[in-house]
Amino acid sequence: MSTIAIVGTQWGDEGKGKIVHLLGKEADGIVRYQGGPNAGHTVVFDGKLFVLHLIPAGILIPKKICFIANGVVIDPLSLYEEVQLLEKRNIKVSGRLFISELAHLILPYHKILDAAREDSSAAGSRKIGTTRKGIGPAYADKVERTGIRVIDYLEEDTFEELLEQNLRLKEKFLQGFTDVEKLRKEILDQAKKLRPFLKKFACDTSILINSAIEKKKKIIFESAQGTMLDIDFGTYPYVTSSNPISGAVGSDCGIGPNKIDSILGIVKAYTTRVGEGPFPTELKDADGERLREVGKEFGATTGRPRRCGWFDALVVQRSVRINGITKLALTKLDVLAGMETLKVCVAYKIKGKTVTHFPNSRKLIKECTPIYKSLPGFKEIPKNARRWEDLPLNARRYVQYLQKLSGGKISFVSLGRSREETIRLDPSSLWI
Ligand code: IMP
Ligand code: MG
Repeated sequence: MSTIAIVGTQWGDEGKGKIVHLLGKEADGIVRYQGGPNAGHTVVFDGKLFVLHLIPAGILIPKKICFIANGVVIDPLSLYEEVQLLEKRNIKVSGRLFISELAHLILPYHKILDAAREDSSAAGSRKIGTTRKGIGPAYADKVERTGIRVIDYLEEDTFEELLEQNLRLKEKFLQGFTDVEKLRKEILDQAKKLRPFLKKFACDTSILINSAIEKKKKIIFESAQGTMLDIDFGTYPYVTSSNPISGAVGSDCGIGPNKIDSILGIVKAYTTRVGEGPFPTELKDADGERLREVGKEFGATTGRPRRCGWFDALVVQRSVRINGITKLALTKLDVLAGMETLKVCVAYKIKGKTVTHFPNSRKLIKECTPIYKSLPGFKEIPKNARRWEDLPLNARRYVQYLQKLSGGKISFVSLGRSREETIRLDPSSLWI
């Protein structure tokens, strides 16, 4: 048994794609367990840039087996396009990708509903800044028990019946935004084309994953988004509609929670967030602008500029606790090079009181002022830095300080997009 769950500790975009790709080399299989095409994993492979939305980053490594588990919501059209794009670039997907029959689908009306809520002037305060990929409405249908799963899509008559039911339920609302008759036809036509495509990949992934674990294969469970976007533990309601935390791996993949051996948290050397919602250490000044430009902090899915700010220890401590993280991979340390002073948030001041846990109250989180510890910056990280000793002294001090605050062991420091630009600090293997 040898499995690792890889989770984001902040608001997503911590660099999970690169680390999954790095560790994927040592693994046999990679499983994506939640979220949908809202994710954007940027990976540089063979000098080429790939942005993946649904398919695990492991697909870029020849011969690795990839799974999309039942906890994921799948837009069949965007999956089709992603597979086409990969195959066009000579990445073989057929025979290496297995998709859960139990995963729920995102259909065109989910995207309409997502955009409608975002744009509704009657509900200005309900704007979340979603990716408009239909994630929330698709998960809502799943919980409401009107959802359509991959297995339902594959059975033509079941699908047509469920589609009718859904369109009838949503018709009144949809009429304000689209021609429902045209929409019905579009979905049915699309299903005719996409059904044979999806059929090639669909299966009971729980059986395959459990059997791989029994055979002692090395499996990575890859999350999308981050802990602060978790539907339960994130900054609700400014969250995504799934559980990106490690605790979800069991129910989202159909394995026992006792099958997860280690949990690796991915943490960026500063903080970013896309969309609306609280972000205590956000910088709206030249430093924030600099982090965005140097760190290329623009959404991989929507192209939106990411909000940038200092490292927030309260966020990472919460993530370490909730996910059961023992090891961390620190990413994008190189982006901080050249900054005179680096600030790290160690507590918040709320109504004159010092607070050391990230508050759950929507009101209090708006009122908090970060308390910072300042550390001297470092000038430059040598392009070929591969060992701890290659890092400037102040960079090492910064990393050590973050490790002390976070409560997890920093096992990797990432200094760029490519696999080579990584320092492995912990010689002990992650695989048990
Ligand atoms: P949704 O997941 O599209 O419903 O969006 C909900 C919130 O999560 C918005 O603030 C999005 O910007 C954010 N979000 C969703 N996916 C990602 C991601 O992969 N990285 C960063 N933020 C994301
Ligand atoms: Mg991303």
